Amino acid sequence: MSVPDLFKPLTLLHGPEMRNRFMMAPLTSQQSEHDGIASQFDQLWIQQLAQSGYALIQTSAATVEAGGIAFERQLGIHSDDHLPGLARMATSIREGGALSAVQLHHAGHRATPQWGGIQSPASGKTVSGVKAITTEEVERIRDSFIAAAKRAESAGFDGVSVHGAFGWILSEFLSPNLNDRTDKYGGSLENRARLTIEVIEGIRRACGPDFQIGWRLSIERYGLRLEELREITADIFDRELIDYLDLALWDSAQVVREGTFKGKTLLSVFTELTRKGVRLGAAGKIYSGQRAAELLNEGCDFVLIARAGILQRDFPLQVKANPIYESPKMPVTAEYLRQGGLSERFIETMRGWQTFVRPGSL
Ligand SMILES: Cc1cc2nc3c(=O)[nH]c(=O)nc-3n(C[C@H](O)[C@H](O)[C@H](O)COP(=O)(O)O)c2cc1C
Repeated sequence: MSVPDLFKPLTLLHGPEMRNRFMMAPLTSQQSEHDGIASQFDQLWIQQLAQSGYALIQTSAATVEAGGIAFERQLGIHSDDHLPGLARMATSIREGGALSAVQLHHAGHRATPQWGGIQSPASGKTVSGVKAITTEEVERIRDSFIAAAKRAESAGFDGVSVHGAFGWILSEFLSPNLNDRTDKYGGSLENRARLTIEVIEGIRRACGPDFQIGWRLSIERYGLRLEELREITADIFDRELIDYLDLALWDSAQVVREGTFKGKTLLSVFTELTRKGVRLGAAGKIYSGQRAAELLNEGCDFVLIARAGILQRDFPLQVKANPIYESPKMPVTAEYLRQGGLSERFIETMRGWQTFVRPGSL
């Protein structure tokens, strides 16, 4: 496969097809209002993305409960007060011809009290002085994910992406290092995966037949075990519980360093699974049209663009116009990002990402 194949449509199990193979990855820009309402800067960013040629655009991680917040000025979807702003985002994306998904997020033990977060660990040993959440609290959080998906649907989004990566609550529960529970949400792999599965199945039941469900999974850190994640994914594929898996790799070429799959790429451990009608995409240093096309050859159905889309909003259109397009090299100056239409708040966020903004640039 080559670059033109990136522009072929892709059907999903539910709802409309993706018009091409480019998905905008979730990007927390920390530019919402303090109560999680989408700001004018969020709207502007989404409007820019909507005109950029992506097939599906995920929002930044949106809090399913006020207490699940991790970042200052994080987008929210935990209250009906968020609906008007979310509806405007969904409309902008639809008008640009892309599909839309809200990324549903709860920070679990990593919630930040400074921003109203309530640390909610799976285990009493993770955060000093904080008890493990009770079974009833786990079920309440599960229901908050489902209620948030319904809110996304009523705001006009085509679907949601369930955030199961980076040690946030769903990934935390999957981890044998962070989850030592003795109730039905801990112990065996089946029990540790129960929260994820109940969230996904609950959303499927609560939302309409065209509603699309993605699941974002990361593999590295937080005590996650590759063999176990592969097993859960195989089951999710086999039961066709989701429309797409979004593998959140930091480098899509990352090789497994130890264990059963040593020497293989992390990606291949998942692309080799029978996925029935579920689609699979990956993120991680996709900075050129050539690299994106290579990933189709490595078994991906689509690719997720993150930093390359901040550097140049319309990455898909650039690749379409020029198959050998490559992203500008990082670090870039703040002025470069400003010229590209990034808000001052978003630029401030990007200053926190080492090697993205040239230190000291105005
Ligand atoms: C500024 C910034 C914000 C991010 N916010 C989120 C987020 O809200 N949710 C998420 O799952 N991943 C988030 N990520 C991770 C990206 O979606 C992506 O997986 C990662 O950056 C690797 O892709 P890349 O190499 O193309 O940047 C963020 C990354 C960046 C750079």
